[in-house]
This record gives sequence, C-alpha cells and structure tokens, in this order.
Amino acid sequence: MPLLQPRSSLADTLRAAERELTQAGIEAARIQAMALLAHTTGLTRAALLARLREPLDHENAATFRSLIQARARHHPLQYLVGQASFLDFEVRVAPGVFIPRPETEQVVERVLALWEPSLPWAIDLCCGSGVIAIALARARTDSRVTAIDVSAVALASARASAADLGVADRIEFVRADLLAALQLAAPRLDRLGVLVCNPPYAPRAAVTQPEVRDHEPEIAWSGGPTGIEIYERLIPQAAALLPAGRPLVLELGYGQEASVPALLADPGDWSPPQIKPDFQGIPRVLSAHRR
Ligand SMILES: C[S@@+](CC[C@H](N)C(=O)[O-])C[C@H]1O[C@@H](n2cnc3c(N)ncnc32)[C@H](O)[C@@H]1O
Repeated sequence: MPLLQPRSSLADTLRAAERELTQAGIEAARIQAMALLAHTTGLTRAALLARLREPLDHENAATFRSLIQARARHHPLQYLVGQASFLDFEVRVAPGVFIPRPETEQVVERVLALWEPSLPWAIDLCCGSGVIAIALARARTDSRVTAIDVSAVALASARASAADLGVADRIEFVRADLLAALQLAAPRLDRLGVLVCNPPYAPRAAVTQPEVRDHEPEIAWSGGPTGIEIYERLIPQAAALLPAGRPLVLELGYGQEASVPALLADPGDWSPPQIKPDFQGIPRVLSAHRR
C-alpha cells in the first residue's frame, strides 16, 4: 500500500509516516515524522498541529515521502533537515560532517569555567561541525578561536555555520592533522587560554547503530580499534605546545575514565586530571592543567 494517498490530510499523512518509521525501528517516530513534515512544508510544528485536517499538496507529499523513506533506511534526521541544534543555536550538517551530541554542551560549560579572562585565544581541535568553536566565540565576544579539523567537508560546513551566526570573523579554520600545524606557531602560544578537543573516540567495532556506522563519517567517530588512539597522539602534542598553567579539556568516550587519564599520568607534565560526568552520570569531560 502506498504510504500516502492522493490529497491525504496532514493527520493521515503523519499517522502513515509514524507507522512506517516505527516498523523500521526508529524511536520517537511521531516526533521525527513531525520534524520532517515541518521541514517539508516550512511550517512550525505548532502550525502543523493547527492544520491537521487540511490536505498536503502533491509536491510536498512526494518530498515528505522520500524523506520518510530515507529516515526508515536510517539516514540521520539531522542530515535530512540539514541542521542540528546545540545549546541555543543551530549549525549546518550534511553527510561528511559529524552530528553534534548533547553531551558536548558540557564540554563547552567546562571550558568556559576554566578559561582565563585575560587570555582570549582558544583552540578547538577536531572541530567537526564547529559547535564548540562557535559556542565559545558566542559566549566571549572578546575571543578568537582557532578551529582545526582534518576534514575539508567539516571545515567548510563549520565555516558556513559560523558565518550564519555572525562569528566567522573571530574563528580561524585550519585544515590539519591534530596539532601538527601549530608547531610553527609555537612562539605565539603564550597567548593561548585553553585547548579543547572532542576527538573521534569510539572503538571501531563497538558502533552498531546504523545512523552512525553507515552514515556518519568513520573518521569522525572512530578512534581506531581501542578508541583511544587519537588521545595517545594528541596528549603528547598538547604537552609540547601548551604553556604552563593552561587547561586542556577533552571529551571522553564511554568507559575511558581510566585509560585516558593514564596518558596524562606523568606528574611532570600535567596536574591531576579532573573528570565531570554528563547528564546521564557517565564520566565525560576531562580537564588537566599543564604544569
Ligand atoms: C567527534 S567529531 C567532533 C566534532 C565536534 N567537535 C563536535 O563536538 O561536534 C571528531 C572530528 O575530528 C576530526 N578528526 C579526526 N581525525 C583528526 C585528526 N587526525 N586531526 C584533526 N581532526 C581530526 C573529524 O574529521 C571530526 O570532524
């Protein structure tokens, strides 16, 4: 049976879409169908609710149908609507760009708590969609942020989001492998206030969710076989570059609250790491100051 009958009402259309998504194993199917219908029609969800008895025109019905079919094949909702929410703003996302997760908001909170007012330069390493860099630039209007990523697609998307949000003039986007490019900038690092990184950290085989495994770029979520490979490279680089007294803030993956601090164990390099849990109580945000 076709998903949509000609000139079905919005209510019938939504019901059919919800059924199709539920059958495909998609959680919160009604909310996701509403989000896709709002995206298709350009109406807010409240406006849709007020028009449930009205028909959906053929063009929108065809667009909505293809979006529902894509979502049923586990294409991430955020890629289908082209944006993702973070704190109080939206960024662009598209295939090739990591979709920001809510736990990263607590990374931003930690950075803002540790970032010295007198040192307005921050580095967001592995910037992906740019959410951390953009959030920092929005929170501190005196700041300058260097946002680094190895992916040209991610950097282009982050730059466009920064422009949308009016902070592009205070964020420098750099394509580089971790901190390699900064070695050249070593003399000016005494002005650096904080280094933050939300790296790819999932052990490759642990990711089974099709939305992530089959659609998000593996370079953005997989740290390698164990998940901590990027931290193993990044922490010595950070120790070599960060001036004394400056904080390093890292997002951690599930179960990494012992293995990653162990990489900071040299007491000559780092103060004892502190780890804050996320909203689910999972140890998530590590910070340590360079000695
Ligand atoms: C988990 S995503 C983080 C995105 C963003 N910070 C956020 O919170 O949404 C990790 C990012 O690291 C980038 N990346 C992976 N390996 C890298 C490397 N060696 N050097 C720089 N960036 C890298 C990926 O392209 C991806 O955009």
